[in-house]
Amino acid sequence: YPNIKISIMGQGGSGKSATVIKFVQNHFVEEYDPTIEDSYRKQLKVNEKIYMLDILDTAGCEYYWGMRAQYIKETNIFILLYSITDKSSLQLLKDQEYRDILRGVVEEQEYSIIVVGNKQDLENEREVATKEGEEFAEEIGAYFVESSAKTDDLVPLFEKIVTFHLDG
Ligand code: GTP
Ligand code: MG
Repeated sequence: YPNIKISIMGQGGSGKSATVIKFVQNHFVEEYDPTIEDSYRKQLKVNEKIYMLDILDTAGCEYYWGMRAQYIKETNIFILLYSITDKSSLQLLKDQEYRDILRGVVEEQEYSIIVVGNKQDLENEREVATKEGEEFAEEIGAYFVESSAKTDDLVPLFEKIVTFHLDG
């Protein structure tokens, strides 16, 4: 099957692992166990075609990203994830330094960026308006979505993400 490489990045504790594990294994991880690095594979059918998704779940701390510079170079879809309950997690994505890392490691392949505002179920703890996430995504030419690793089925979300990537 055609292979699509996905890397998920963002601040520690924002829900990257919970999002990936909900999608791949269909259960919600309640406890917080900080990631150094994990990878997952899952087949996904999009528009009647099956793709093999390779997903790299990175550490919230970008210190570790150098470890997988090669993988990041080959990434087709970058998921930049923040938590709607934590302003600083969106700020991290906006930081110039962060974008320089992406620019530095990505070579020639076509890639797409997806901005995900996670923890949408915690509406009463919201610190980031939907519009702020939307505006950031628009600025960098990314697809935008809010979701919850806790309460959402994430298969449709990944179908949308892959469709956005394939449609360019
Ligand atoms: P690092 O690996 O340190 O970078 O963190 P991470 O971004 O992978 O965060 P992780 O997925 O481990 O989630 C951190 C905490 O937030 C865990 O206790 C999760 O259960 C919780 N969490 C993640 N996503 C959601 C969500 O959508 N809703 C709620 N209510 N909690 C969430
Ligand atoms: Mg993690």
